[in-house]
Amino acid sequence: MKAPDTLVAEAPRGPGEFRSSQTEARSRNEDLLARYRAMRDFTARLCRDLEPEDCVVQSMPDVSPTKWHLAHTSWFFETFVVKIWMPRYRPEVPQYAYLFNSYYNAAGDMHRRDLRGLISRPTVAETYRFRDSIDQCVAQLLEGADDALLDEIEPVLTLGLNHEQQHQELLLTDIKHVLAQNPLYPVFSENAVAPENDSVAPQRFVEFEEATVMIGHDSAGFCYDNEGPRHRALVLPFSLSNRLITNGEYLEFMEAGAYTRPEFWLSLGWTTINDPASARWRAPLYWVERDGEWWNFTLSGFRRVNESEPVTHLSYFEADAYANWAGARLPTEFEWERAAAELPIIGNFVDDERFHPAPVSSSSDVNGLQQMYGDAWEWTRSAYLPYPGYRAGPGALGEYNGKFMCNQMVLRGGSCATSRNHVRLTYRNFFQPEKRWQFTGLRLARDPS
Ligand SMILES: [Fe+2]
Repeated sequence: MKAPDTLVAEAPRGPGEFRSSQTEARSRNEDLLARYRAMRDFTARLCRDLEPEDCVVQSMPDVSPTKWHLAHTSWFFETFVVKIWMPRYRPEVPQYAYLFNSYYNAAGDMHRRDLRGLISRPTVAETYRFRDSIDQCVAQLLEGADDALLDEIEPVLTLGLNHEQQHQELLLTDIKHVLAQNPLYPVFSENAVAPENDSVAPQRFVEFEEATVMIGHDSAGFCYDNEGPRHRALVLPFSLSNRLITNGEYLEFMEAGAYTRPEFWLSLGWTTINDPASARWRAPLYWVERDGEWWNFTLSGFRRVNESEPVTHLSYFEADAYANWAGARLPTEFEWERAAAELPIIGNFVDDERFHPAPVSSSSDVNGLQQMYGDAWEWTRSAYLPYPGYRAGPGALGEYNGKFMCNQMVLRGGSCATSRNHVRLTYRNFFQPEKRWQFTGLRLARDPS
């Protein structure tokens, strides 16, 4: 393989080069490049303790090998930035475009998602070299760009950085699933864990009056296209739990016969949990019963279930069934957005490198909403649908969100694997209702009695 610096990559030329003052242009270039490098470095940091053998395993069709994430995020910048604005760029291995395209039909054919674990070449080392070569191209492009060019590149580069953050989260949830298959239960990260079964803030419900509220992003700053158009929505009176449901509370549901009582379950949920192919679910993903005690696999290893922590790795079906058992329901995404409207974005995020949800201390403000951001994505009862007036954009990047608006449910708030500066009030995550390998949990809502 050729060294990255032999790649054909030329800085853009044009009449507009450095039209504005050199100082101003430089600072903007440097700022953008610094943001790019910080984002790429964090991806590498997450992988720092992984061995090459860890990085190639695909433990189920939803999971991608770490190596694939490293390559695909580089493919994104190569395809949508380098190939567009560096016309003399020639890929060293053109077939990477096929191997590392995920789902963008307009960008060409792609390798099958469920076969990613069969690809032993490029090696992990070659993948890092591919990654470095793209980083060099992007650096060269940004360093030589004038303001007019930066105006063109910045929105796509920003999308690529947000895309990278999404894959950082997937990389973590995917490697967790990979390591969980190993009877040795490898530790991804030794980190501080909460004391076991600490006291938890009591559950309270915060009431909200009926209101017509504005939903969606106001277009100031970056957002995904699925967060708009901003529009009015009527939200009827409701109340919302002050915190996430804990492992201890979910255990009570299990002890009440949760998985054996069809009255709590949606029909599709009941079918799913009793499907022999899914080994008949009887607990959240990663929970194992040993000698009458529940243990779970975490990114810090195999541990006794901590009843104080928010329950996570639940499917929508399990979250909905718990809410039914508790005499409540899941909130709609509009209720969630209304409730969170004035709250700061604070919480347990990937930045903390804890990689697991944390309990709410009993000393916290029990009358206010806690854990709205971070810890665990909150299933809502809202189907993932376009907002009024939404149209997906043209071309391959128009495939980013819009084509998935069928058969998925919306989740809000981010998780312990989400970056703090990635999530926001209007952020709409979405997964099929049976998926539970993400850090997914729940918060209860109620109608007025
Ligand atoms: Fe992607």
